[in-house]
Amino acid sequence: MTHSSLPVQRSFAETLRRDLWWISPLTVLIAFSTFLIYGTWSALQNSGYTWGPYFSPFHAPEIWGPTEHAWFGPRPAWWPEIVFYPALIILPFPGLFRFTCYYYRGAYYKGFWADPAACAVGEARKTYRGERPFPNWLQNLHRYAMYIALIFIVMLAWDAWKGFWWLDNGNLHFGVGVGTLIMWANVALIASYTLGCHSLRHIVGGFKDRLTGQPIRAACYTQCSRLNARHGTLAKWSMFSVAFTDFYIRMVAGGYITDWRLF
Ligand code: FES
Repeated sequence: MTHSSLPVQRSFAETLRRDLWWISPLTVLIAFSTFLIYGTWSALQNSGYTWGPYFSPFHAPEIWGPTEHAWFGPRPAWWPEIVFYPALIILPFPGLFRFTCYYYRGAYYKGFWADPAACAVGEARKTYRGERPFPNWLQNLHRYAMYIALIFIVMLAWDAWKGFWWLDNGNLHFGVGVGTLIMWANVALIASYTLGCHSLRHIVGGFKDRLTGQPIRAACYTQCSRLNARHGTLAKWSMFSVAFTDFYIRMVAGGYITDWRLF
């Protein structure tokens, strides 16, 4: 007769692992915190996010606002100036998309909540609460946030397209500056991250048992799967690119650096 032992319940951070398992969650904690602090600071600035044809992705689209990029003009009179920040009107949408992303969940559950801190490492909590308590039930909104994120790709691409058009002596000219390339790199990274979404992959083909005889669906599923295989990497790079594009435009707008016009 054989006896199998029950799983060992370890105390917090107790583990038999010999590798540097804490490096990854610590890196996530530092990198994501830096992004959140910078992003919050930038969102609370009502200036410096546009220069020439450039427009920061942190503030796009500007629904109401002080710049010529605003869709519906300046702040409505009924909105008190003291609580008016154009970026905060739209940031909840990409924010929810990233907050509920499967990659980010895995990263910040470990980095911020230590729940668990890493695989095969003891947890502080001994019970499983599921995803019903707030804010965990927000995770169920990921699919809907994804639909909106797809629209954001188009809007960011439109802003990047406008980054080609320079107003010189009252006339619009086609041109490319370093900022134009940075904006397009950001669009490419955000699109690659979004189009590799697990929810999107399910919708375009994952829910089917077989894709034979459906060439368009099969092609979409294949491309989505390719991006999905690099989803974590693209999540990190696209997060970096959003912050960097905003930072670059702020530096140029503030006169701290010169934007080189390539042609
Ligand atoms: S799972 Fe990461 S964006 Fe959908």
